[in-house]
Amino acid sequence: MMKKHVFVLLSAAMSVAVVFAEEYFAWVDSAIARFGTNYTVLAENAKLGYTKEAPYPKTFRNGKVVFCKDWDWCSGFFQGCLWYLHEATGEAKWRELAEKYTEEQAHIRTSNLHHDLGFMFLPSAGNAYRITGDRKYAGYLYDAARTLCTRWRPRCQAIQVWGNWNGKWADSCSIIVDCMLNLELLEWAGKFPCEGWEGQPRDWLDGGVFRDMAEVHADTTIKYLLRPDGSSYHFALLDFKTGEFIKHLNGQGVGHWSRGQGWVVYGFPMMYSFTREQRFLDAAIKVADYALNEKNIPEDRIPYWDYEAPNIPNEERDSSAAAVLGCGFLKLSKICPDKEKAARYRAEALKIAKSLSSDAYFAKPTEIGGFVLKHAVASKPDGTDIDVPLNYGDYYYLELLVKLHVENN
Ligand code: GLY
Repeated sequence: MMKKHVFVLLSAAMSVAVVFAEEYFAWVDSAIARFGTNYTVLAENAKLGYTKEAPYPKTFRNGKVVFCKDWDWCSGFFQGCLWYLHEATGEAKWRELAEKYTEEQAHIRTSNLHHDLGFMFLPSAGNAYRITGDRKYAGYLYDAARTLCTRWRPRCQAIQVWGNWNGKWADSCSIIVDCMLNLELLEWAGKFPCEGWEGQPRDWLDGGVFRDMAEVHADTTIKYLLRPDGSSYHFALLDFKTGEFIKHLNGQGVGHWSRGQGWVVYGFPMMYSFTREQRFLDAAIKVADYALNEKNIPEDRIPYWDYEAPNIPNEERDSSAAAVLGCGFLKLSKICPDKEKAARYRAEALKIAKSLSSDAYFAKPTEIGGFVLKHAVASKPDGTDIDVPLNYGDYYYLELLVKLHVENN
């Protein structure tokens, strides 16, 4: 009798688990399939609007797809989405297109105009190498990492964001939270064996050079760009000669820029997973807890473009910030030793992914030229691309979906 009860209870629990799992697969996989439908439209628009000068779809403005140039920090995200679609669906058409755009962009890997080489090359060559194993792409990544190293400023213990740009940023070393994501490129290069490969000579740079730069830059970020409550400044200026702190600037926010918080919420768990240094885990938890508990986050967990924007609730949301935050929370949930906290981070990642998959954010295939996420903001203070789709919003949202899809297959 006892055995029978246990059996009934067990099978009931198992069927609940199966139903839960089926529902779970259904919404993630359906969102990926819908993403593919939209990107079929976007790929067609990309073909129609292609120019050698600006080949990469970036946003949708005034009824038209807007493209960006090779050197734009956004030049790798479109092909990054194509690689993820190929990975999730196995369809060859996505790979063919991804290869084309990855190749098109590759030449810019030796340009050191700014620090965004990680943003530009991890989605394109990074995913290409991870998915295909073709060492040609590792070569692109490695070159990009070497280029990024040329922006290292030893006196400031940091990677300089911009150089002299029409007289701007000439006198001091600018550092920004966004750079946390570029550090992954250096960590990758630090681990990649420097033995040379076909067509690439052995490098004199030891992996430790890349890793040291990444880790010291992350320390400088903790020192100058994080507040004690876990919120972040967008950027700071340091004195070139002495490395001393000059001032903070608000940049794309008004003090609590939500996508900037996303860059640290994603960047510190990434640094911890490479280094296993406790200080990066501590920073990851601190910035994540701020983002989790911020008082102005709406019910659907999609933040305003700045957590402290002046006219909340009459301010634009930033779906791209939510996508980046979702990726960060998911990553942190997998490495956080505190199981209770880890479960909260995972629940937050799932909530964000579900909200972004709803009609409130997910566009119909032709609604915004084939882009997926509505309601992103590039920079409200600069008046650029407010309440539009942005290719990086799509990219980090798809990354979140694909990570959930992969862990359940
Ligand atoms: N990395 C630039 C931005 O988030 O807008």
